[in-house]
Amino acid sequence: MDRLSPISEMKPGDDPVPVTKKVFVKTFGCQMNVYDSERMSEALAAHGYAGAASPEGADLVVLNTCHIRERAAEKVYSELGKLREMKAARRDEGGAMQVVVAGCVAQAEGAEISARAPVVDVVVGPQSYHRLPELLAEAQETGRRIVETRFPEEEKFSALPERLIARATNGGATSEANIPNAPRALAAASAFLTVQEGCDKFCTFCVVPYTRGAEYSRKVTDLAAETRRLVARGTREITLLGQNVNGYHGEGPDGESWSLAKLIRHLAEIEGVERLRYTTSHPRDMTEDLIAAHRDEAKLMPFLHLPVQSGSDRILAAMNRKHTAREYLSLMQRIRDARPDIAISTDIIVGFPGETDKDFKATLALVEEINCAQAYSFKYSPRPGTPAAKIDDQVAEQVKAERLAQLQALLDSQQTRFNASCVGRTMPVLFERKGRHAGQLVGRSPYLQLVHADAAPDLLGRIVSVEIAAAGQNSLAGVIAAA
Ligand code: 5AD
Ligand code: SF4
Repeated sequence: MDRLSPISEMKPGDDPVPVTKKVFVKTFGCQMNVYDSERMSEALAAHGYAGAASPEGADLVVLNTCHIRERAAEKVYSELGKLREMKAARRDEGGAMQVVVAGCVAQAEGAEISARAPVVDVVVGPQSYHRLPELLAEAQETGRRIVETRFPEEEKFSALPERLIARATNGGATSEANIPNAPRALAAASAFLTVQEGCDKFCTFCVVPYTRGAEYSRKVTDLAAETRRLVARGTREITLLGQNVNGYHGEGPDGESWSLAKLIRHLAEIEGVERLRYTTSHPRDMTEDLIAAHRDEAKLMPFLHLPVQSGSDRILAAMNRKHTAREYLSLMQRIRDARPDIAISTDIIVGFPGETDKDFKATLALVEEINCAQAYSFKYSPRPGTPAAKIDDQVAEQVKAERLAQLQALLDSQQTRFNASCVGRTMPVLFERKGRHAGQLVGRSPYLQLVHADAAPDLLGRIVSVEIAAAGQNSLAGVIAAA
């Protein structure tokens, strides 16, 4: 069998590759995985794979996994159990199905996945997606199971084919989406763009520095080119992604290292870009120039996801966050001084090893002071290989559950209050998709809230003034304001 050509040879202007196979991609975890899944789908499209709506009947199933919390990995193994039966049935019918595990579970567990789930043909870590077509061919030729979890020298983004599609929806720190590939389709109104990957912060609870590796920032010119391609296809809002996005320090066209603020100002000048967002940030990298961008860059949306993790200085130190609760609050004050209407979102972990009732009360007190527009909260889960997993003083499951429930009740009330405060206001909404009811569109406010409104379908992909008439805990409803 011929070797497949390297995927970097495929250019968007080339003739479409005939569709010969179907791929089903299931994405777990963060927005970066959503972005990676799109790029993998594109790489596979260049090799004749079209998107399938379900794993039944697909020639290839890719699970793009998340390792950040326990249940995510468990879900993957349970998916693999189902795929094992499907693959066996296919074999009985004389067909074949390949199974790939990608993402952070792949990176963290590598050969263990192969050993525990022989149904898997290829295990591929996030840094090697550009090699996926080649790895699939190798698995098929040799009949061997392949594990590729190295951090290769070449850069995956420049080795991947140019961006053909964007199909993304914003919001939600966690998402579970299937992204079928559809080359040359219209882009989504809102798309993700990975600008930075990896992390050097080494918070003691977190696997990211191990699964995504050291910090790496993409070049400004590459990002500007990808942005131009997205807006040419109709994207209006771009969310810049990175595990530590405000630590961005990519090479600028002048050969200098550019900050995230400078990148944002540069991308904001591209015609067609109407909204910019970025996620996820670390408090220690909220630099003056980034805060200033929130003050004077109109296209930068007034929403900031800034994880704090805990309100107890003792726990923050044990987490290696390198800031105190006070420092976070004074940072918040500076950000709010620059952009008074900014909506704040955060991440909080309850039950970190050694967390006492007093520590937890400090977290509740901090949350009261931050006053979040939305937030994600989690029970601490020991991640193999991380320093915190080795601490003896783990908090009992029952205690974690009680604390989480108490914290979530507070966060829910803050979110409901914030949404209610929007009633009566008129705000620009970017419509992203059709709603469940006929005649209804769903979009996002500047503050990342979901907004439902009765609207003509030609308003999809456009930013329209909407008067907010009602608010619930998770969304707003409004009417199109007279032009
Ligand atoms: N346990 C629980 N939550 C975690 N997070 C990261 N690692 C863990 C863990 N081991 C949370 C953090 C982070 C978010 C993406 O996931 O709050 O900001
Ligand atoms: Fe993980 Fe901390 Fe890096 Fe965020 S900053 S990815 S929590 S190590």
